[in-house]
Amino acid sequence: MSWIEVRARIPGDYRDRSPFVDAFREHGVENTLETGAEVVGCLPDVEGAAFRAQRLAEALWDRGAEDVAMRAFEEENWEEAWKRFFRPRRVGRRFLVRPSWEPPSEADDLLEIVLDPGQAFGTGDHATTRLCLELMEDAICPGARVADVGCGSGILSVGAKLLGAATVRAVDIEPVSVEVALENARRNDVQIEAVAGDGFDELGEDRYDAILSNIISATLVRIAPDALRRLVDGGHWIVSGVIPQNWPDVEAAASRAGFRLEDRLEEDGWVAARFVR
Ligand SMILES: C[S@@+](CC[C@H](N)C(=O)[O-])C[C@H]1O[C@@H](n2cnc3c(N)ncnc32)[C@H](O)[C@@H]1O
Repeated sequence: MSWIEVRARIPGDYRDRSPFVDAFREHGVENTLETGAEVVGCLPDVEGAAFRAQRLAEALWDRGAEDVAMRAFEEENWEEAWKRFFRPRRVGRRFLVRPSWEPPSEADDLLEIVLDPGQAFGTGDHATTRLCLELMEDAICPGARVADVGCGSGILSVGAKLLGAATVRAVDIEPVSVEVALENARRNDVQIEAVAGDGFDELGEDRYDAILSNIISATLVRIAPDALRRLVDGGHWIVSGVIPQNWPDVEAAASRAGFRLEDRLEEDGWVAARFVR
């Protein structure tokens, strides 16, 4: 398993290391090591990690670090490495994403998604996933029929079921993601359908109350008319994975297809939005 280590040297006259530790947290690194004049943290080298490490380094410089160094390394005992760096994390108002080795939370008003990092994208660590879960809280009502296009680990599918969705159909172009999504659904004791395929090809002609798609902008632009066609009137299309430069193209494609923009969030250099048919 590959990791990216970020190491910040703090000036000697700084007694308070908390702004630096906070910078790590704000970029998804919950556990830091503080040794002498240094604060060190590691990110698993998954999709988007290099970009996030770069943003973290910039934040550390901005807060007055004297030096910031990054290096990639391999950890043989990766299960132990995951355990050090993946902690339960709150997402939105209602979700908690918890690795299986951590005990359940005592708060009974949280919807817990049990998920271990693995072969498919989507641990709740990446802003694009977190923004989707947040937007889903206002869009998915009990009994809803939901499609998750680009399901990755299945985190959004599981989240939709926990919000009360009656059915969830998940699709991913990568067969391994389909396997992982089904496994994660079983682990969370929810039932979903998951199939391998490209975009909406595998969704048939069914109509949905919500369609979730955390995929690159070019795909969102391409599938906007399909998304509209497969939603009921008043149905929600939640999109994520858009960099701000591409947002005008996605918004224009959605509006051309006939969608109305209802909500738009931005975090860590990523835009996500909720459109309504
Ligand atoms: C950024 S990940 C999102 C994973 C998860 N839904 C989440 O929100 O964390 C995008 C996923 O979409 C899949 N994907 C990319 N293009 C696709 C397409 N045209 N049709 C279906 N899935 C696609 C990728 O294999 C990947 O698993």
